[in-house]
Amino acid sequence: MSGRLRAPKGTHDLLPTDSERFAAVEACARRVFSSHGYGEIRTPTFESTELFARSVGETTDIVHKEMYTFPDRKGRSLTLRPENTAGVVRALVEAGIQETPRPIRLWYAGSQFRYEQPQAGRYREFRQIGVELLGVAGPAGDAEVLAMLFEFLGELGFQDLIATLNCIPRGEARAAFSRALQEHVRPRAGSLGAEDRRRLEENPLRLYDSKDPEAQRILEGAPSTLDFLDEGARAHHVRLQELLRAAGVRFVESAAIVRGLDYYTLTVFEVASERLGAQNAILGGGRYDGLVESLGGPPTPAVGFAIGEDRLVAAMEADAREARPVIFVIPGSAAELDYALAVSASIRALVPGAIIETDLTARGFPKGLSRAAAVLERPERYGFRASAVRAVLLGADERQGEKVTVKNLATGEQRSFARSALAEELGMARDR
Ligand code: HAM
Repeated sequence: MSGRLRAPKGTHDLLPTDSERFAAVEACARRVFSSHGYGEIRTPTFESTELFARSVGETTDIVHKEMYTFPDRKGRSLTLRPENTAGVVRALVEAGIQETPRPIRLWYAGSQFRYEQPQAGRYREFRQIGVELLGVAGPAGDAEVLAMLFEFLGELGFQDLIATLNCIPRGEARAAFSRALQEHVRPRAGSLGAEDRRRLEENPLRLYDSKDPEAQRILEGAPSTLDFLDEGARAHHVRLQELLRAAGVRFVESAAIVRGLDYYTLTVFEVASERLGAQNAILGGGRYDGLVESLGGPPTPAVGFAIGEDRLVAAMEADAREARPVIFVIPGSAAELDYALAVSASIRALVPGAIIETDLTARGFPKGLSRAAAVLERPERYGFRASAVRAVLLGADERQGEKVTVKNLATGEQRSFARSALAEELGMARDR
Protein backbone atom coordinates (compact mmCIF):
# COMPACT_ATOMS: atom_id res chain seq x y z
CA MET A 1 0.00 0.00 0.00
CA SER A 2 1.31 3.43 -0.82
CA GLY A 3 -0.20 6.90 -0.90
CA ARG A 4 0.12 9.88 1.33
CA LEU A 5 -1.34 9.79 4.84
CA ARG A 6 -2.97 12.89 6.25
CA ALA A 7 -3.57 14.12 9.78
CA PRO A 8 -7.02 13.14 11.05
CA LYS A 9 -9.81 15.64 10.33
CA GLY A 10 -9.92 18.45 12.88
CA THR A 11 -6.29 18.08 14.03
CA HIS A 12 -3.37 20.27 13.08
CA ASP A 13 0.38 19.91 13.27
CA LEU A 14 2.52 22.57 14.91
CA LEU A 15 5.70 22.86 12.88
CA PRO A 16 8.49 25.25 13.93
CA THR A 17 7.24 28.84 13.89
CA ASP A 18 3.85 27.73 15.14
CA SER A 19 5.29 25.45 17.79
CA GLU A 20 7.51 28.29 18.98
CA ARG A 21 4.57 30.63 19.29
CA PHE A 22 2.74 28.10 21.41
CA ALA A 23 5.81 27.47 23.54
CA ALA A 24 6.27 31.23 24.07
CA VAL A 25 2.63 31.59 25.17
CA GLU A 26 2.99 28.65 27.55
CA ALA A 27 6.23 30.07 28.97
CA CYS A 28 4.44 33.37 29.61
CA ALA A 29 1.58 31.49 31.33
CA ARG A 30 4.07 29.67 33.54
CA ARG A 31 5.81 32.93 34.46
CA VAL A 32 2.64 34.87 35.29
CA PHE A 33 0.71 32.08 37.02
CA SER A 34 3.65 30.86 39.08
CA SER A 35 4.26 34.42 40.29
CA HIS A 36 0.77 34.24 41.85
CA GLY A 37 1.57 30.95 43.57
CA TYR A 38 -0.03 28.63 41.02
CA GLY A 39 1.68 25.26 40.49
CA GLU A 40 1.45 23.21 37.32
CA ILE A 41 -0.67 20.06 37.25
CA ARG A 42 -0.65 17.43 34.49
CA THR A 43 -3.41 14.87 34.43
CA PRO A 44 -3.97 11.93 32.03
CA THR A 45 -5.17 12.60 28.50
CA PHE A 46 -7.87 9.97 28.94
CA GLU A 47 -10.10 9.31 31.91
CA SER A 48 -12.99 7.00 32.72
CA THR A 49 -16.06 8.09 30.74
CA GLU A 50 -18.11 8.34 33.92
CA LEU A 51 -15.97 11.25 35.14
CA PHE A 52 -17.23 13.55 32.39
CA ALA A 53 -20.81 12.34 32.60
CA ARG A 54 -20.80 13.19 36.34
CA SER A 55 -19.11 16.59 36.01
CA VAL A 56 -19.62 18.24 32.63
CA GLY A 57 -23.11 16.70 32.59
CA GLU A 58 -24.93 13.91 30.76
CA THR A 59 -27.14 16.28 28.74
CA THR A 60 -24.52 18.80 27.64
CA ASP A 61 -23.44 18.84 23.98
CA ILE A 62 -19.93 17.86 25.06
CA VAL A 63 -20.95 14.62 26.77
CA HIS A 64 -23.96 13.92 24.60
CA LYS A 65 -22.28 14.07 21.20
CA GLU A 66 -18.71 15.36 21.23
CA MET A 67 -16.67 12.85 23.20
CA TYR A 68 -14.09 10.43 21.87
CA THR A 69 -15.22 7.41 23.86
CA PHE A 70 -13.89 3.90 23.40
CA PRO A 71 -13.67 0.62 25.31
CA ASP A 72 -10.15 -0.48 26.24
CA ARG A 73 -9.07 -4.08 25.80
CA LYS A 74 -10.76 -5.08 29.06
CA GLY A 75 -14.01 -3.39 28.06
CA ARG A 76 -13.68 -0.36 30.38
CA SER A 77 -15.18 2.79 28.88
CA LEU A 78 -12.55 5.51 28.49
CA THR A 79 -12.79 9.01 27.02
CA LEU A 80 -10.18 11.40 25.64
CA ARG A 81 -10.58 14.41 27.92
CA PRO A 82 -12.85 17.09 26.38
CA GLU A 83 -11.74 19.54 29.09
CA ASN A 84 -9.41 19.45 32.09
CA THR A 85 -11.35 20.73 35.12
CA ALA A 86 -12.93 17.33 35.80
CA GLY A 87 -9.55 15.58 35.59
CA VAL A 88 -7.94 18.12 37.93
CA VAL A 89 -10.67 17.65 40.53
CA ARG A 90 -10.51 13.86 40.17
CA ALA A 91 -6.75 13.97 40.70
CA LEU A 92 -7.06 16.17 43.82
CA VAL A 93 -9.74 13.98 45.38
CA GLU A 94 -7.61 10.92 44.64
CA ALA A 95 -4.51 12.52 46.17
CA GLY A 96 -6.43 13.43 49.35
CA ILE A 97 -7.67 16.99 48.90
CA GLN A 98 -8.81 17.16 52.54
CA GLU A 99 -5.19 17.00 53.69
CA THR A 100 -3.98 19.66 51.23
CA PRO A 101 -3.63 23.16 52.71
CA ARG A 102 -6.09 25.59 51.13
CA PRO A 103 -6.36 27.45 48.92
CA ILE A 104 -5.08 25.14 46.19
CA ARG A 105 -3.76 27.05 43.17
CA LEU A 106 -3.14 25.13 39.95
CA TRP A 107 -2.61 25.74 36.25
CA TYR A 108 -2.23 23.43 33.25
CA ALA A 109 -1.66 23.34 29.52
CA GLY A 110 -2.53 20.48 27.23
CA SER A 111 -4.59 18.94 24.45
CA GLN A 112 -8.33 18.43 24.74
CA PHE A 113 -10.57 16.49 22.35
CA ARG A 114 -14.08 17.19 21.11
CA TYR A 115 -15.79 15.64 18.12
CA GLU A 116 -17.08 18.90 16.67
CA GLN A 117 -17.58 19.98 13.06
CA PRO A 118 -14.16 21.47 12.24
CA GLN A 119 -14.00 25.05 10.97
CA ALA A 120 -11.69 28.01 11.49
CA GLY A 121 -10.88 28.10 15.20
CA ARG A 122 -12.71 24.87 15.96
CA TYR A 123 -10.72 21.67 16.09
CA ARG A 124 -11.17 18.11 17.27
CA GLU A 125 -7.85 18.22 19.05
CA PHE A 126 -7.17 21.67 20.52
CA ARG A 127 -5.05 23.02 23.32
CA GLN A 128 -6.13 24.73 26.49
CA ILE A 129 -4.26 26.70 29.11
CA GLY A 130 -6.27 26.68 32.32
CA VAL A 131 -6.27 27.74 35.93
CA GLU A 132 -8.15 26.32 38.92
CA LEU A 133 -8.37 27.90 42.38
CA LEU A 134 -9.95 25.66 45.02
CA GLY A 135 -10.93 26.46 48.58
CA VAL A 136 -11.97 30.12 48.29
CA ALA A 137 -15.72 30.65 48.63
CA GLY A 138 -15.89 34.43 48.41
CA PRO A 139 -15.73 36.69 45.34
CA ALA A 140 -12.07 37.50 46.05
CA GLY A 141 -11.29 34.08 44.52
CA ASP A 142 -13.13 34.92 41.29
CA ALA A 143 -11.43 38.32 41.25
CA GLU A 144 -7.97 36.78 41.72
CA VAL A 145 -8.27 34.44 38.74
CA LEU A 146 -9.76 37.16 36.52
CA ALA A 147 -7.11 39.73 37.45
CA MET A 148 -4.36 37.17 36.84
CA LEU A 149 -5.97 36.22 33.52
CA PHE A 150 -5.93 39.84 32.35
CA GLU A 151 -2.35 40.28 33.51
CA PHE A 152 -1.42 37.28 31.34
CA LEU A 153 -3.37 38.59 28.35
CA GLY A 154 -1.73 42.00 28.83
CA GLU A 155 1.74 40.42 28.79
CA LEU A 156 0.87 38.87 25.44
CA GLY A 157 -0.04 42.28 24.07
CA PHE A 158 -3.85 42.14 24.37
CA GLN A 159 -4.87 45.55 25.65
CA ASP A 160 -8.51 45.87 24.65
CA LEU A 161 -10.19 42.65 25.74
CA ILE A 162 -13.31 42.72 27.91
CA ALA A 163 -14.78 39.93 30.03
CA THR A 164 -18.48 39.17 29.74
CA LEU A 165 -19.80 38.26 33.16
CA ASN A 166 -22.93 36.55 34.44
CA CYS A 167 -24.14 34.90 37.62
CA ILE A 168 -26.06 31.62 37.43
CA PRO A 169 -28.55 30.86 40.18
CA ARG A 170 -27.83 27.83 42.35
CA GLY A 171 -29.95 25.30 44.24
CA GLU A 172 -33.66 26.08 44.48
CA ALA A 173 -33.20 29.38 42.64
CA ARG A 174 -31.67 27.49 39.69
CA ALA A 175 -34.64 25.12 39.59
CA ALA A 176 -37.00 28.11 39.61
CA PHE A 177 -35.05 29.73 36.79
CA SER A 178 -35.18 26.48 34.75
CA ARG A 179 -38.95 26.31 35.20
CA ALA A 180 -39.38 29.95 34.17
CA LEU A 181 -37.27 29.30 31.09
CA GLN A 182 -39.39 26.27 30.18
CA GLU A 183 -42.58 28.28 30.60
CA HIS A 184 -41.21 30.97 28.32
CA VAL A 185 -40.04 28.58 25.59
CA ARG A 186 -42.72 25.84 25.63
CA PRO A 187 -45.44 27.85 23.81
CA ARG A 188 -42.93 28.53 21.03
CA ALA A 189 -41.33 25.05 20.99
CA GLY A 190 -43.08 24.11 17.72
CA SER A 191 -40.53 26.16 15.79
CA LEU A 192 -37.55 24.44 17.44
CA GLY A 193 -35.67 21.41 16.16
CA ALA A 194 -35.72 18.00 17.91
CA GLU A 195 -32.37 18.68 19.62
CA ASP A 196 -33.60 21.92 21.22
CA ARG A 197 -36.89 20.32 22.27
CA ARG A 198 -34.82 17.67 24.05
CA ARG A 199 -32.81 20.41 25.75
CA LEU A 200 -36.02 22.17 26.77
CA GLU A 201 -37.27 19.11 28.62
CA GLU A 202 -34.02 17.62 29.96
CA ASN A 203 -31.91 20.66 30.85
CA PRO A 204 -33.41 24.00 29.78
CA LEU A 205 -30.24 26.02 30.56
CA ARG A 206 -28.56 24.13 27.74
CA LEU A 207 -30.87 25.91 25.24
CA TYR A 208 -28.31 28.72 25.44
CA ASP A 209 -25.81 26.40 23.71
CA SER A 210 -28.07 26.08 20.65
CA LYS A 211 -26.66 27.38 17.40
CA ASP A 212 -30.14 27.62 15.84
CA PRO A 213 -31.00 31.32 15.22
CA GLU A 214 -34.65 30.57 16.01
CA ALA A 215 -33.71 29.29 19.49
CA GLN A 216 -31.54 32.34 20.03
CA ARG A 217 -34.41 34.61 19.00
CA ILE A 218 -36.79 32.93 21.45
CA LEU A 219 -34.22 33.29 24.25
CA GLU A 220 -33.88 37.01 23.66
CA GLY A 221 -37.14 37.65 25.50
CA ALA A 222 -36.51 34.95 28.14
CA PRO A 223 -36.29 35.55 31.90
CA SER A 224 -32.89 36.71 33.09
CA THR A 225 -30.59 34.65 35.33
CA LEU A 226 -29.93 37.82 37.32
CA ASP A 227 -33.58 38.07 38.40
CA PHE A 228 -33.40 34.66 40.06
CA LEU A 229 -30.36 35.05 42.30
CA ASP A 230 -30.80 34.32 46.00
CA GLU A 231 -29.55 36.94 48.43
CA GLY A 232 -26.11 35.37 48.91
CA ALA A 233 -25.60 34.96 45.17
CA ARG A 234 -26.56 38.56 44.50
CA ALA A 235 -24.17 39.82 47.17
CA HIS A 236 -21.39 37.66 45.67
CA HIS A 237 -22.06 39.06 42.21
CA VAL A 238 -22.16 42.69 43.36
CA ARG A 239 -19.01 42.38 45.45
CA LEU A 240 -17.15 40.66 42.61
CA GLN A 241 -17.90 43.60 40.34
CA GLU A 242 -16.49 46.01 42.95
CA LEU A 243 -13.33 43.93 43.24
CA LEU A 244 -12.92 43.73 39.47
CA ARG A 245 -13.23 47.50 39.16
CA ALA A 246 -10.63 47.91 41.89
CA ALA A 247 -8.30 45.51 40.06
CA GLY A 248 -8.81 47.31 36.74
CA VAL A 249 -10.41 44.30 35.00
CA ARG A 250 -12.72 45.49 32.23
CA PHE A 251 -16.04 43.64 32.04
CA VAL A 252 -19.67 43.90 30.96
CA GLU A 253 -22.58 42.00 32.42
CA SER A 254 -24.65 39.71 30.18
CA ALA A 255 -27.44 37.33 31.16
CA ALA A 256 -26.86 35.41 27.91
CA ILE A 257 -23.59 33.83 29.06
CA VAL A 258 -24.65 30.51 30.54
CA ARG A 259 -21.74 28.25 29.43
CA GLY A 260 -22.07 24.75 28.03
CA LEU A 261 -21.00 22.77 31.10
CA ASP A 262 -23.32 21.79 33.96
CA TYR A 263 -20.90 22.21 36.87
CA TYR A 264 -21.05 26.02 37.01
CA THR A 265 -22.60 27.81 40.00
CA LEU A 266 -22.78 31.61 40.36
CA THR A 267 -20.01 33.39 38.44
CA VAL A 268 -19.44 32.55 34.78
CA PHE A 269 -17.44 34.54 32.26
CA GLU A 270 -16.08 34.51 28.73
CA VAL A 271 -13.69 36.65 26.74
CA ALA A 272 -14.10 36.96 22.97
CA SER A 273 -11.95 38.58 20.31
CA GLU A 274 -13.35 40.34 17.27
CA ARG A 275 -10.30 39.22 15.33
CA LEU A 276 -11.50 35.61 15.28
CA GLY A 277 -14.77 35.55 13.32
CA ALA A 278 -17.47 33.04 14.21
CA GLN A 279 -15.57 30.99 16.82
CA ASN A 280 -14.60 34.06 18.77
CA ALA A 281 -14.53 32.82 22.38
CA ILE A 282 -10.90 32.87 23.46
CA LEU A 283 -11.68 31.53 26.88
CA GLY A 284 -14.38 30.63 29.34
CA GLY A 285 -14.60 29.94 33.02
CA GLY A 286 -16.51 30.28 36.22
CA ARG A 287 -17.24 29.00 39.67
CA TYR A 288 -18.03 25.33 40.33
CA ASP A 289 -18.74 25.04 44.05
CA GLY A 290 -20.44 21.62 43.89
CA LEU A 291 -18.04 19.69 41.68
CA VAL A 292 -15.48 18.46 44.22
CA GLU A 293 -18.22 17.03 46.40
CA SER A 294 -20.02 15.41 43.48
CA LEU A 295 -16.77 13.63 42.59
CA GLY A 296 -16.41 12.22 46.09
CA GLY A 297 -14.40 14.95 47.85
CA PRO A 298 -15.29 17.24 50.76
CA PRO A 299 -17.38 20.35 50.04
CA THR A 300 -14.89 22.69 48.34
CA PRO A 301 -15.70 25.95 46.57
CA ALA A 302 -13.71 26.49 43.37
CA VAL A 303 -13.32 28.79 40.39
CA GLY A 304 -11.24 28.69 37.22
CA PHE A 305 -11.02 29.23 33.49
CA ALA A 306 -9.56 27.67 30.36
CA ILE A 307 -8.16 29.54 27.39
CA GLY A 308 -8.35 28.04 23.90
CA GLU A 309 -4.66 28.29 23.10
CA ASP A 310 -5.12 27.77 19.34
CA ARG A 311 -7.56 30.68 19.24
CA LEU A 312 -5.37 32.81 21.49
CA VAL A 313 -2.36 32.36 19.21
CA ALA A 314 -4.51 33.07 16.14
CA ALA A 315 -5.71 36.32 17.72
CA MET A 316 -2.21 37.52 18.58
CA GLU A 317 -1.11 40.26 16.25
CA ALA A 318 2.37 39.87 14.88
CA ASP A 319 3.55 42.99 16.68
CA ALA A 320 1.77 42.07 19.90
CA ARG A 321 4.38 39.38 20.29
CA GLU A 322 7.21 39.52 22.72
CA ALA A 323 10.39 41.17 21.39
CA ARG A 324 13.66 39.32 21.90
CA PRO A 325 17.21 40.28 21.01
CA VAL A 326 18.73 38.19 18.22
CA ILE A 327 22.49 37.75 17.98
CA PHE A 328 24.35 35.94 15.18
CA VAL A 329 27.82 34.79 16.17
CA ILE A 330 29.91 34.38 13.03
CA PRO A 331 33.45 32.92 12.95
CA GLY A 332 35.67 34.24 10.14
CA SER A 333 36.85 30.71 9.35
CA ALA A 334 36.94 27.21 10.81
CA ALA A 335 39.91 28.28 12.91
CA GLU A 336 37.65 30.60 14.94
CA LEU A 337 34.88 28.06 15.56
CA ASP A 338 36.02 27.14 19.10
CA TYR A 339 36.31 30.80 20.01
CA ALA A 340 32.87 31.46 18.51
CA LEU A 341 31.27 28.72 20.60
CA ALA A 342 32.89 30.09 23.74
CA VAL A 343 31.72 33.64 22.98
CA SER A 344 28.19 32.37 22.23
CA ALA A 345 28.10 30.67 25.62
CA SER A 346 29.18 33.89 27.37
CA ILE A 347 26.54 35.93 25.54
CA ARG A 348 23.88 33.40 26.38
CA ALA A 349 24.71 33.82 30.06
CA LEU A 350 24.84 37.63 29.78
CA VAL A 351 21.66 38.30 27.80
CA PRO A 352 18.84 36.17 29.18
CA GLY A 353 16.00 35.68 26.70
CA ALA A 354 18.19 36.39 23.66
CA ILE A 355 18.29 34.11 20.67
CA ILE A 356 21.89 33.36 19.77
CA GLU A 357 22.64 31.55 16.53
CA THR A 358 26.20 30.44 15.95
CA ASP A 359 27.26 29.98 12.32
CA LEU A 360 28.55 26.42 12.54
CA THR A 361 29.40 26.24 8.84
CA ALA A 362 32.23 28.76 9.48
CA ARG A 363 32.33 29.73 5.82
CA GLY A 364 33.32 33.32 6.50
CA PHE A 365 31.68 36.67 7.26
CA PRO A 366 29.87 37.32 3.92
CA LYS A 367 28.14 33.93 3.96
CA GLY A 368 27.38 34.22 7.69
CA LEU A 369 25.91 37.70 7.26
CA SER A 370 23.80 36.71 4.28
CA ARG A 371 22.41 33.79 6.26
CA ALA A 372 21.57 36.28 9.06
CA ALA A 373 19.83 38.53 6.53
CA ALA A 374 17.83 35.59 5.20
CA VAL A 375 16.70 34.69 8.71
CA LEU A 376 15.72 38.29 9.42
CA GLU A 377 13.58 38.41 6.32
CA ARG A 378 11.32 35.85 7.96
CA PRO A 379 11.23 36.94 11.59
CA GLU A 380 7.93 35.13 12.11
CA ARG A 381 10.04 31.99 12.06
CA TYR A 382 10.79 32.69 15.70
CA GLY A 383 7.22 33.37 16.78
CA PHE A 384 8.19 36.73 18.31
CA ARG A 385 9.66 40.00 17.19
CA ALA A 386 13.40 40.29 16.71
CA SER A 387 14.89 43.30 18.48
CA ALA A 388 18.44 44.62 18.87
CA VAL A 389 19.73 42.42 16.08
CA ARG A 390 23.51 42.11 16.16
CA ALA A 391 26.20 40.07 14.45
CA VAL A 392 29.28 39.21 16.48
CA LEU A 393 32.17 38.83 14.02
CA LEU A 394 35.15 36.78 15.19
CA GLY A 395 38.21 36.71 12.92
CA ALA A 396 41.83 35.81 13.63
CA ASP A 397 42.49 39.25 15.21
CA GLU A 398 39.60 38.90 17.60
CA ARG A 399 40.59 35.37 18.55
CA GLN A 400 44.23 36.25 19.20
CA GLY A 401 43.43 39.47 21.06
CA GLU A 402 40.47 38.02 23.07
CA LYS A 403 38.30 40.67 21.42
CA VAL A 404 34.92 40.79 19.71
CA THR A 405 33.54 42.91 16.86
CA VAL A 406 29.84 43.67 17.15
CA LYS A 407 27.85 44.88 14.16
CA ASN A 408 24.41 46.43 14.54
CA LEU A 409 22.50 44.90 11.61
CA ALA A 410 19.91 47.66 11.60
CA THR A 411 22.35 50.60 11.28
CA GLY A 412 25.46 48.86 9.94
CA GLU A 413 27.50 50.44 12.75
CA GLN A 414 30.39 48.24 13.91
CA ARG A 415 32.61 48.34 17.03
CA SER A 416 35.45 46.23 18.40
CA PHE A 417 36.19 45.80 22.10
CA ALA A 418 37.63 43.37 24.62
CA ARG A 419 35.66 40.18 25.24
CA SER A 420 35.65 41.02 28.93
CA ALA A 421 33.61 44.16 28.14
CA LEU A 422 30.75 42.13 26.60
CA ALA A 423 28.59 42.58 29.66
CA GLU A 424 28.51 46.39 29.47
CA GLU A 425 28.44 46.48 25.70
CA LEU A 426 25.54 44.05 25.55
CA GLY A 427 23.45 46.49 27.54
CA MET A 428 22.26 46.76 23.94
CA ALA A 429 19.84 43.97 24.74
CA ARG A 430 17.70 46.60 26.39
CA ASP A 431 17.81 49.16 23.56
CA ARG A 432 14.78 47.77 21.74
P1 HAM B 1 -14.99 25.69 27.57
O1 HAM B 1 -15.74 26.96 27.39
O2 HAM B 1 -15.69 24.45 27.14
O3 HAM B 1 -14.60 25.60 29.11
O4 HAM B 1 -13.61 25.79 26.80
C1 HAM B 1 -12.73 26.87 27.05
C2 HAM B 1 -12.14 27.39 25.75
O5 HAM B 1 -11.56 26.32 25.00
C3 HAM B 1 -13.15 27.99 24.78
O6 HAM B 1 -13.45 29.33 25.12
C4 HAM B 1 -12.40 27.92 23.46
O7 HAM B 1 -11.49 29.02 23.33
C5 HAM B 1 -11.59 26.66 23.62
N1 HAM B 1 -12.24 25.58 22.83
C6 HAM B 1 -13.31 24.83 23.17
N2 HAM B 1 -13.62 23.97 22.19
C7 HAM B 1 -12.72 24.17 21.20
C8 HAM B 1 -12.48 23.58 19.90
N3 HAM B 1 -13.26 22.58 19.44
N4 HAM B 1 -11.47 24.06 19.15
C9 HAM B 1 -10.67 25.07 19.62
N5 HAM B 1 -10.83 25.64 20.82
C10 HAM B 1 -11.84 25.21 21.61
C11 HAM B 1 -13.90 24.57 29.68
O8 HAM B 1 -13.32 23.73 29.04
C12 HAM B 1 -13.82 24.65 31.18
N6 HAM B 1 -13.06 23.47 31.68
C13 HAM B 1 -13.16 25.94 31.64
C14 HAM B 1 -13.05 26.05 33.12
C15 HAM B 1 -11.95 25.81 33.88
N7 HAM B 1 -14.02 26.37 33.95
C16 HAM B 1 -13.57 26.36 35.19
N8 HAM B 1 -12.33 26.01 35.15
